[in-house]
Amino acid sequence: MRQALRRIQDEPRSRLYRELAHAGTTVYYRTVSCGPAGQILVDGRPCLMLGSNDYLGLRFDGRVQEAAGRAAARWGSGAGGSRLLAGSIPLHRELEEALADWLGREDALLFTTGYQANLGTLSALLRPEDTVLCDTGVHASLLDGCRLAGARIQRFRRHRLRTLHARLAADAPAALVIDAVYSMEGDEAPLADVAGALGDGTCTLLLDEAHALGVYGPDGGGLATASEAGRRVDLVTGTLSKSLASCGGFVAGDRETIQAIRANARSLIFSTASVPAALGAARAALEIARAEPEHRVRVLENAALLREGLKSAGVDTGVSTSPIVPAILGDSARAFAASEQLFEAGIYAGIAIHPAVPKGSELVRFSVTAALSPSDVQQVVDVTSKVIRNLPDPTRVP
Ligand SMILES: Cc1ncc(COP(=O)(O)O)c(C=O)c1O
Repeated sequence: MRQALRRIQDEPRSRLYRELAHAGTTVYYRTVSCGPAGQILVDGRPCLMLGSNDYLGLRFDGRVQEAAGRAAARWGSGAGGSRLLAGSIPLHRELEEALADWLGREDALLFTTGYQANLGTLSALLRPEDTVLCDTGVHASLLDGCRLAGARIQRFRRHRLRTLHARLAADAPAALVIDAVYSMEGDEAPLADVAGALGDGTCTLLLDEAHALGVYGPDGGGLATASEAGRRVDLVTGTLSKSLASCGGFVAGDRETIQAIRANARSLIFSTASVPAALGAARAALEIARAEPEHRVRVLENAALLREGLKSAGVDTGVSTSPIVPAILGDSARAFAASEQLFEAGIYAGIAIHPAVPKGSELVRFSVTAALSPSDVQQVVDVTSKVIRNLPDPTRVP
């Protein structure tokens, strides 16, 4: 067999997929569809959906679906190319202005995905001679953007402020990159502390609001809009794929920087723009997110109900304070077993194993949405507590 093909087949992930297939476990890439009454079906089984990041529950909102359809009918099914050459449709600019207004920034720039927004922004911003500080939990797209720039990446643990101060003093970083809400453990960034540590220095602070947008802030505009510390944030990135129930990404900041990113970001220049339907859906979802606070109130209430319920049943939910609620199980065998048993009981949740989380912190990841009712959440608590109680002890050697 060709060398490159053999190598990729030997990668740990390839081996894991083979082992799972051999054991008849289908944790990844399941087929999700909709039943006649709008119920979610996963591999044909009716399920409570706790594996999607549709925090405000707007994916199946008729207004959002109609807006997607109207945009496709008016502007076509595809964008036809990169905006640089194929041009932008009016919806691009409208959505950029609406995002900038929501986030309290001068301007915003859309990308086709959130991954591309982070990749394009950081690779345009940084140089090989730069040091960039990233904490240990940041999303892969942020790390990949720093890597593409060839910048020297220094890591620090996000709640260890002493390490952050030491790194700032030792490395004089060009940029500091953090997530607003951490996608696996579900904790919020210590933004006030980070802003305090940076002071008025020249280091650029980039905050990825992917999991905070729509949920935090008085108007749902994310963690940076929730406190004074947000003023220290220079650039906000995010995705349209979670609370905005669509697909796409963005960076927002001051007008001149956004213009420079527009001119240089390769993932923008060399990739076809979002389809009109995605822009139409995100535009409608943004309006709903701003005008109807009940969705973010509901998702936070549901998350608190799940977290407290699991904690009272002795389940370790770690440092979660957000709609991402992990059940930390301590090894991958337990995480796979729990997720499989939950699925059989009609609850769909993701799992995270090393290296997505540190070794020993393998978990089932519940992503709570406003589409769940309190009784749905109670059902998740009851079933999960039972499943976890009956798992084999991680420390017991068979
Ligand atoms: C923190 C964070 N940033 C960026 C992204 C990428 O966004 P998208 O899914 O739109 O590519 C994600 C998505 O999973 C994320 O969790």
